[in-house]
Amino acid sequence: MNKAFQIKNDLHWVGAIDWNLRDFHGYQTEKGSTYNSYLLVDEKPILFDAVKAPFVDEALQRISTVIDPSKIKYIVVNHVEMDHSGGLSAFIDRIKPEKIFCSQKAKEALLLHFHRPDWPYSVVKSGDKINVGKHNISFIETPMLHWPDSMFSYIEEEKVLISSDAFGQHFATSKRFDSDVDYGELVHQAAKYYANIILPYSSLVQKLLKSVQNSGLKIEMIAPDHGLIWKEYVSDILKSYNDWSFPKLKRKAVVVYDTMWKSTEKMALAAAEGLISQNVETIVMKLGECHRSDVITQLLDSSAIVVGSPTLNNEILPRMADMLTYMKGLKVPGRAGFALNSYGWNPGVLQKLNTELMASGITAIDEGIGVKYVPENKELERCFELGIKLSEKIIL
Ligand code: FEO
Repeated sequence: MNKAFQIKNDLHWVGAIDWNLRDFHGYQTEKGSTYNSYLLVDEKPILFDAVKAPFVDEALQRISTVIDPSKIKYIVVNHVEMDHSGGLSAFIDRIKPEKIFCSQKAKEALLLHFHRPDWPYSVVKSGDKINVGKHNISFIETPMLHWPDSMFSYIEEEKVLISSDAFGQHFATSKRFDSDVDYGELVHQAAKYYANIILPYSSLVQKLLKSVQNSGLKIEMIAPDHGLIWKEYVSDILKSYNDWSFPKLKRKAVVVYDTMWKSTEKMALAAAEGLISQNVETIVMKLGECHRSDVITQLLDSSAIVVGSPTLNNEILPRMADMLTYMKGLKVPGRAGFALNSYGWNPGVLQKLNTELMASGITAIDEGIGVKYVPENKELERCFELGIKLSEKIIL
């Protein structure tokens, strides 16, 4: 029997645990995930967010351990992406809510997903407040965290901020609160989530943090739609979001490469040695062994990057092309880097690597080095020297 978990007074977690999720649109989720749904019991019981479609029965079972789902009067849709709204249609059929609170953008997106103009939408905007009995709930629109429709809900009397995707982690666990799991793992998963989901919207995170600070909101808990609820470490996760969005970078470099016959690997390792010789914390990651989402996670607090790829059919080797496309979408501005390439007969891929670096917001500190077939010592020394040159661009 799936049971609800009481978070605070009349507030219950009634979500679902996706123990075996290993891929979230290209992000490797080695710890699975959760789809958090929250139920506030009051005169007008209100449900915050649905769950992914295959988990509707699990969530309804949890709700049923607190109240009959048909007693719920309101549903809040903080975010339309299908990991939260996939089960919405089934929820609405079962609950028959009087109102569905959502942003204007969410209403538009819901209509385009479900094609149900007959649902009882009630559009809210930042600052709007509703009363459900003993509790007042206000809404804060947070466009692009993660979609244009996203918003937060704040339960004033409980001092709980329901934060949708923001502050989440893809972390399936039987525990619900931050202090009940290993702190290092929790922060790693929160950082990985930030790097792979929130990173492109860092300037919006900065604005959001400032407006939350200026609003004087008292926050005792941050309840995201994925992973653990922040209770013990609320100020820590707010500080981490400030550091990651700023971004606050370390004297750290990522050397990411792929290789066919070890030539690019030799070059990448020589460049890494150059960085290490200058006391730069250096992480070496070979694609195929390391996942693109872990590379981005390491880049979150790194100042520098080296990318290396051999040429295949006059193009970047596919796994590196995949990595660069992923990085270009997320963007990592403020970092410096250079490229390495081993080729057989066409040297054009080095330029393609440089173009991709710049498209990700990275400053290329040198045109990099391309080597025909297998590098000899003087070429590996050049890679080493480029590592040193890159270290000199890290101003920390
Ligand atoms: Fe968890 Fe943007 O969905």
